[in-house]
Amino acid sequence: MTHIDRSPFRTGLLENRTVLITGGGTGLGRSAALKCASLGARVGVVGRREEPLKATVGEIEKAGGRAAFASCDVRDAASVVAAFDSIEASLGPVNSLVNNAAGNFLCASEDLSDNAFDSVVKIVLYGTFNCTRELGRRLIRAKQEGHVLAIVTSYAVTGSAFVLPSAAAKAGVLAMMRSLAVEWAVYGIRLNAIAPGPFPTEGAFSRLMAGDLEKKAVERVPMKRFGEHDELSNLIAYLLSDASPYQTGDCVTIDGAEALFSGQEFAGFAHLDRAAAKALMTSIKPKK
Ligand code: HXC
Repeated sequence: MTHIDRSPFRTGLLENRTVLITGGGTGLGRSAALKCASLGARVGVVGRREEPLKATVGEIEKAGGRAAFASCDVRDAASVVAAFDSIEASLGPVNSLVNNAAGNFLCASEDLSDNAFDSVVKIVLYGTFNCTRELGRRLIRAKQEGHVLAIVTSYAVTGSAFVLPSAAAKAGVLAMMRSLAVEWAVYGIRLNAIAPGPFPTEGAFSRLMAGDLEKKAVERVPMKRFGEHDELSNLIAYLLSDASPYQTGDCVTIDGAEALFSGQEFAGFAHLDRAAAKALMTSIKPKK
């Protein structure tokens, strides 16, 4: 299969993987789907809207890969079971899962309606549970090993103002991965989380960035840029591959050190011209 993006991996790295990716029709899920397929995986993409799923499958097939799609609302456990059945009918047994589907918006927490809170928590927390439990059941029944990834964010650990449903749900997802890493190790099922910082996508940026928020977000990244999709997809491929057999229950941050910057008292100096920063630091004289 022709390679879709730059890759540091050997051809066929994921050829023994059948990967189901939630939200695989758009954004980071689509990028992960293309990457996994380019490394030889059979890829099932699921999501609510058929059109982008079909397009992603078409792109993979055009490049010589194998893919299938199933319309599915991850909030609904029955819909998840049907999606697994449909993908497995086309591609064979699924052995890897990327929990990527998410919902989010900015809102003062006191203004959240019941349904607003429910919508995000059901997509992120219940959706991840529904898909992870379904893969786990199938793998355990078939006595097969497998892998689960969950895309969280750095605020899964710290919490975040103004995205409370997402922060609470992502924290739950992280706890889910860590709990199951212990519980399912005996079955040979590895579970890890990835905590990305800002990676531009239509879905996230149209809901979370307005005015000069985007400019301010870049300023919080010591590397002074957002992440590129390929960088996240490469991490996903690595964690799903045989290159990381002992890694489970982990949460790998990929954010150009943004989260560390935000939590460090004197991090602002890193953004000054270095000579100016040194001059400022040496100009500070304690009173005798
Ligand atoms: C307040 C809002 C709102 C907003 C929706 N709601 N947007 N409340 N402020 N901006 C409320 C609605 O009024 C409604 O409540 C309830 O949420 C459900 O909205 P619907 O539009 O009917 O639901 P649905 O079509 O299912 O959409 C789900 C969604 C939507 C979560 C609301 O945003 C969505 O589909 N998102 C999918 C894509 C996405 O969000 N991607 C970004 C992920 S980024 P009422 O009470 O009126 O019925 C991410 C990580 C970011 O997760 C990390 C950054 C570093």
